[in-house]
Amino acid sequence: MGVMIAKNDQAERLPGHDLRADKMPGHWLLARLGKRVLRPGGIAMTRGLLADISVGRDDDVVEFAPGLGVTARLILQRTPHSYTGVERDSAAAAWTAQQLPVQPNVSVSIGPAEATGLADGVATVVVGEAMLSMNPSEHKQQIMQEAYRVLHQGGRYGIHELAIVPDDVSAHVKGDIEAALSSAIHVGARPLTPGEWRSLLESVGFHVECIRLAPMNLLRPARLVADEGLLGALRFLRNVAMDRDARRRVLKMRRTFHKHRAHLNAISIVARK
Ligand SMILES: C[S@@+](CC[C@H](N)C(=O)[O-])C[C@H]1O[C@@H](n2cnc3c(N)ncnc32)[C@H](O)[C@@H]1O
Repeated sequence: MGVMIAKNDQAERLPGHDLRADKMPGHWLLARLGKRVLRPGGIAMTRGLLADISVGRDDDVVEFAPGLGVTARLILQRTPHSYTGVERDSAAAAWTAQQLPVQPNVSVSIGPAEATGLADGVATVVVGEAMLSMNPSEHKQQIMQEAYRVLHQGGRYGIHELAIVPDDVSAHVKGDIEAALSSAIHVGARPLTPGEWRSLLESVGFHVECIRLAPMNLLRPARLVADEGLLGALRFLRNVAMDRDARRRVLKMRRTFHKHRAHLNAISIVARK
């Protein structure tokens, strides 16, 4: 049983539109409820990442997992030479494509980030947010290898993910957080420590240039307003209030993020090939 999002004639095309609120992946549930910014550090961390990575007019940008196209639009505001999104969820790819201008240098394709089908060295920038954490270790590495392959020498790779802090956190705490997150968002969640993110990037050949951390405040009121605007945040809260199954899930997610807040952060990293 889903929530009707008033006046949204695209609602049925949202990813996961045919799934039950009590079972669906947390990010698509949040999207059904009206949330559009689905990454742990929010829009502020995204803006910081795009500035750190200095996306500009000469760049050929590949975005892994654009989701609902929020970062794609921010990237296009910087008028890069080209933009290519690669998203494995066909509904999300279609949604993103709908957000973007119809231009020959802008495209979105359906496929896995670990095998984009793009030629070697076509990108000067690769960006991916909130997508590595949900992939198992082997896929994380394959996705990073693919970023490395499609980047030309000197190209930049920007990621924005979940991190567990500090670097020397015990295996027990880490295991607890993974289990709690996976149970709350119904997606396998395997965040890494900042040191582990760095090592993984270095293991595929990247040189890490910049690491930033921020609180994981995805469902806190101030962050909701910052990410979705006041009206968007109110719409989201109204939709949560109107759907019991969805509300249960959202409250569980919020409790989980809150309980583990001392060890759970958002992280952005810029690495260079
Ligand atoms: C939590 S959402 C984040 C969406 C968007 N990047 C954002 O930050 O708002 C995760 C997205 O990653 C996509 N995704 C996960 N693993 C992927 C993979 N291996 N290849 C391509 N897309 C992937 C999902 O389909 C979904 O759109």
